[in-house]
Amino acid sequence: MRRFDLRRRTDRLDPETQYEEIARILATQEFPWDINQALSFALFRTYAVPTIGRLLFETGEFTERVQKRYDDTGLILDAVLENGLTSDPGRAGIRRMNQMHGSYDISNDDMRYVLSTFVVIPERWIEDFGWRKLTRNEIVGTTNYYRALGKYMGIKEIPETFEAFEKFLDDYEREHFLFDSGGRAVADSTLDLLCTFPPNNLAPAALIKRFSWALMDDPLLDAFAYRRPSRLARTLSRGALKARARLVRFYPVRTVPKFARDLPNIRSYPNGYEVEKLGTFPRTCPVQHTNGTVAPENTASRTALDA
Ligand code: HEM
Repeated sequence: MRRFDLRRRTDRLDPETQYEEIARILATQEFPWDINQALSFALFRTYAVPTIGRLLFETGEFTERVQKRYDDTGLILDAVLENGLTSDPGRAGIRRMNQMHGSYDISNDDMRYVLSTFVVIPERWIEDFGWRKLTRNEIVGTTNYYRALGKYMGIKEIPETFEAFEKFLDDYEREHFLFDSGGRAVADSTLDLLCTFPPNNLAPAALIKRFSWALMDDPLLDAFAYRRPSRLARTLSRGALKARARLVRFYPVRTVPKFARDLPNIRSYPNGYEVEKLGTFPRTCPVQHTNGTVAPENTASRTALDA
């Protein structure tokens, strides 16, 4: 396989109907590292919205069991990506998310905002640090993938195009990013976790943190009251990622897909896992649990998936 063969393949797929295949190729073969990094940084953006950051702080999960939260997030979303939105494992993953979210009072706008980070932030990351740019077909395909996921999550008034997602995200951040001690605690805890991921664990944590802050924009840093890095720190961090991209361009094509469970960052389940048992089962959850699984007749939030 030659370097641009997968790009040729995604460009032959129809982004209106074959968006799952496009999203899968991008996330597991063309840009697994970049999309993983971008989504990790996207997490920080969601914490900077106080209604989101505070809720995640109040569950205690992101400060007490941050590794498990990180792992479960990746594994649940991967079950959907790998097997498809309407497959049994995909439906189990979506059902788990809906049960967790259904236990809290979460606004549709916050849901739309988090969805828009999945669409926009990886595209922006790849534009800056990818070994190649995304094609229009790939951007439309990814957008449609998350639109479909959002629909199964019961999210209303989902933006229709990539550009509409971008506008929604930028406007939402301008209006909502604000300091909140809970959001800051969750951000600190996640940053501490990122420092332990290989190969970051080989460098001093202080260096990894400076590198990470240098990749954050000013509104995000201000929302956590993190000190703005120097121009030099920004140039060095961004330059290192751009140099990596130039190198990766010469790598061979990844023929074996890399899923979240293959990442060294995911460490909670050395002996395997079941999608139905991932995530949290909040005490406020109105769902009855039997032996760690959920009674199917009693789902917390009824969505398009259940229809
Ligand atoms: C498209 C939007 C969203 C997606 C795809 C998504 C995805 C997920 C996933 C995969 C999990 C399970 C991971 C785990 O076990 O920690 C999860 C859990 C959770 N999510 Fe979301 N989420 C979205 C929006 C939101 C929003 C807007 C909020 C809050 C305002 C939120 C709050 C939570 C909470 C509280 C949990 C349970 C974990 C805990 O107790 O801390 N999510 N979400």
